Amino acid sequence: MNTGMNTGMSTDRVVRTFIEYFEERGHRRITGSTLLPPPGDPVLFTTSGMHPLTPYLEGRPHPLGRRLVNLQRCLRTTDLEEVGDTTHLTVFEMLGTWSLGDYEGPQSLDWGYDLLTEGLGIDPGLLHATVHGGDEQVGPDTASLRVWQDRGVPVELTEEDNWWSNGPVGPCGPDSEIFLWTGDTPPRSTPTRDDRWVEVWNHVTMRYRRLDDGSLVPLPQRNIDTGLGLERLASLLQGRSSVFECDVFDPWRRLVPALWPLDELSLRLVYDHLRSAVVVIGDGVTPAATGRGYVLRRLVRRVLTVLWRDDPSRSLHDLPDELLTHTLDHFRQNGETAGVRRLLLDEERRFRGLLERGRQVLARPRFHGPLTGEDFRYLHDTHGLPRDLVMSLRER
Ligand code: SER
Repeated sequence: MNTGMNTGMSTDRVVRTFIEYFEERGHRRITGSTLLPPPGDPVLFTTSGMHPLTPYLEGRPHPLGRRLVNLQRCLRTTDLEEVGDTTHLTVFEMLGTWSLGDYEGPQSLDWGYDLLTEGLGIDPGLLHATVHGGDEQVGPDTASLRVWQDRGVPVELTEEDNWWSNGPVGPCGPDSEIFLWTGDTPPRSTPTRDDRWVEVWNHVTMRYRRLDDGSLVPLPQRNIDTGLGLERLASLLQGRSSVFECDVFDPWRRLVPALWPLDELSLRLVYDHLRSAVVVIGDGVTPAATGRGYVLRRLVRRVLTVLWRDDPSRSLHDLPDELLTHTLDHFRQNGETAGVRRLLLDEERRFRGLLERGRQVLARPRFHGPLTGEDFRYLHDTHGLPRDLVMSLRER
């Protein structure tokens, strides 16, 4: 991706510009939460800025009022397979704004357009919008459509792509997404047909709750929930071709390739997963066989698998302290780097041991042919070898 744009704006300045813009319009800044949702919440990690605000979207009065703005760290495991492309990170930060039963969607889009073009200096000719075109349950979002038409921004109408929900049930609603052209040619085509249109900001009119039977009921109030992926927008504003090249990854790009010479895709995976692992540990998670701890375990093991592919002597022991400190500081976490490193190294030791045991067990004649369900169960229950690990050991 390359917009040919370079406003030279640092990530910190994007955050300040965004927050101040909305504070000037009556929004109060709330402190972002950790990656861990409150007890009893069905999701493992906070996946979007709205997530900690669910009770307020459902009608509980927020102590700071009806207009809010924040910066929230998020983790999306659904994006794990996409890591390494130019726009997805496992842990990322989302700038968000909320109208809790206050102003409506057109106001939010107007502000969004002005902030992107005037506040952040984006050429309006590089923007494209998408809008909910209606389905069997909800009519077309004509109010948003009109805003974009009045502004002269091209619009595409879709169904599923312009519907936002946090899960199969709960608050949800139609959205209007703003895309930025990142191709080398003048803009062409539309966001659903050309992935050089990169989504930067989603404005959801959150006014329904989906029930277990799939039906929609109105929420007690009509809310607006917007979310903007910080690293993605910052890298575009900095004229960089991927999220891994924006300023927050500077120390990673300076230190890791010299330590572990890897191809670009592997480097991206190492930056993304190690940084995510540090943040997750910083929020109090430890590696485990289930739940959040298992996500952490997978992140660390994927890094080690990549590192050991060409050189099994590589170790997280060599990870520079600066990267741990930089990450904990960036996410405003007070953990000690020594504690984070200890957890990473414990996990490395455990994984090394498991791989050795796995190789020995799989060398037995019984496991030379195709494996049955019974074999997988035995390998797991008796030797602690999960199915995906067995599969990858047999591929070598
Ligand atoms: N909840 C929406 C999203 O995550 C907007 O914040 O995209």
